[in-house]
Amino acid sequence: NKGSYKHYMQKEIHEQPESLTTTMRGRLLRGGSCKAKTVLLGGLKDHLKTIRQSRRIVFIGCGTSYNAALAARPILEELSGIPVTMEIASDLLDRQGPIYREDTAVFVSQSGETADTLSALEYALENGALCVGITNTVDSAIARNTHCGVHINAGAEIGVASTKAYTSQIVVMAMLALAIGGDTISNQARREAIIDGVFELPNKVREVLKLDGMMKDLAQELIAEQSLLVFGRGYNYATSLEGALKVKEVALMHSEGILAGEMKHGPLALVDETLPTLVIATRDACFSKQQSVIQQLHARKGRLIVMCSKGDAASVCPGGTCRVIEVPQLEDCLQPVVNIVPLQLLAYHLTVLRGFNVDQPRNLAKSVTTQ
Ligand code: UD1
Ligand code: BG6
Repeated sequence: NKGSYKHYMQKEIHEQPESLTTTMRGRLLRGGSCKAKTVLLGGLKDHLKTIRQSRRIVFIGCGTSYNAALAARPILEELSGIPVTMEIASDLLDRQGPIYREDTAVFVSQSGETADTLSALEYALENGALCVGITNTVDSAIARNTHCGVHINAGAEIGVASTKAYTSQIVVMAMLALAIGGDTISNQARREAIIDGVFELPNKVREVLKLDGMMKDLAQELIAEQSLLVFGRGYNYATSLEGALKVKEVALMHSEGILAGEMKHGPLALVDETLPTLVIATRDACFSKQQSVIQQLHARKGRLIVMCSKGDAASVCPGGTCRVIEVPQLEDCLQPVVNIVPLQLLAYHLTVLRGFNVDQPRNLAKSVTTQ
């Protein structure tokens, strides 16, 4: 039931304040009689000790689920101190890459039925790793066949392009990082700031959804373009990949997410006054590096669209010539949850304006159950 919305994708983008609320429900505790702020993931509590002792955590997934894991990787590394590596399921299988008994392999899948991810799970089980599932679908193959896991509880997702599952996956993996990471005095302030940030998320997302009209205007401007580049780094490298994937899969426009640190090693050659180039430059430890990326793109007459934190428009826009998308700021590791929303809206409006099928893009399926 689409309610008052025209498409499921639109509905699912706009219901993210609610889906994020159900994702965190009962899992974060603070205030009241319980003074300490803590995380409780029922599905993992008996396995946390083993996970903490693992030599490596390997994230495995496809498409949007892979991107969500990539967004959560930095915070998991920071809080756990355990090396975290990334695997696209099909690539792990193509290489028959090493998986060890001492590994924790985390399988991320909205549907829990993706054939590549399932085969990678079989492979990791054979190799003796502890297998953890992060899925939206209770009783799915991944939920059944993993040793333990967490349901993201985002509610059914109908649109082929994943939106609300992406943001809920990131939140679950941030909670996973909190659950695995030790509760030491030195990281207490950081942990509490992240937990407070998760509680603030639904309101921040509600706020960023107000950019809907502005993203529609931007879509109108980009309607006839051939391509869109999206530069991100750090926490928001994943946002650039996921934003580009949304534009590609539903609006049927070429789009590429680019690690900004690699700009000079190739992509800069593409930049000219016609190619739209979106740079994610919200406040975090990479901000000044992104400011310099913007300067360099501007010096080459790049057609700039900059996403920045509220109040930063003047400091990110050289000569006042670029389009600016201002988003509310929150704890750096949760910023990807807010930053993806305008890009989801952009992809949605581009698709409608270009006259394509929003909920069932040509050639794609919600759940890819064959290899
Ligand atoms: C569970 C209940 C929830 C209830 C809550 C009360 C289910 C599905 N969830 O939620 O309805 O409100 O207790 O405390 O009944 N699992 C996997 N692989 C996966 C995902 C999950 O093995 O990919 C396992 C978990 O290890 C766990 C079980 O499935 O044993 C349920 O996981 P989850 O729903 O995340 O647990 P709770 O949040 O505790
Ligand atoms: C398909 C979907 O390609 O599978 C994508 O069209 C999705 O939206 C990908 O990200 C992975 O699916 P899942 O269910 O494993 O997260």
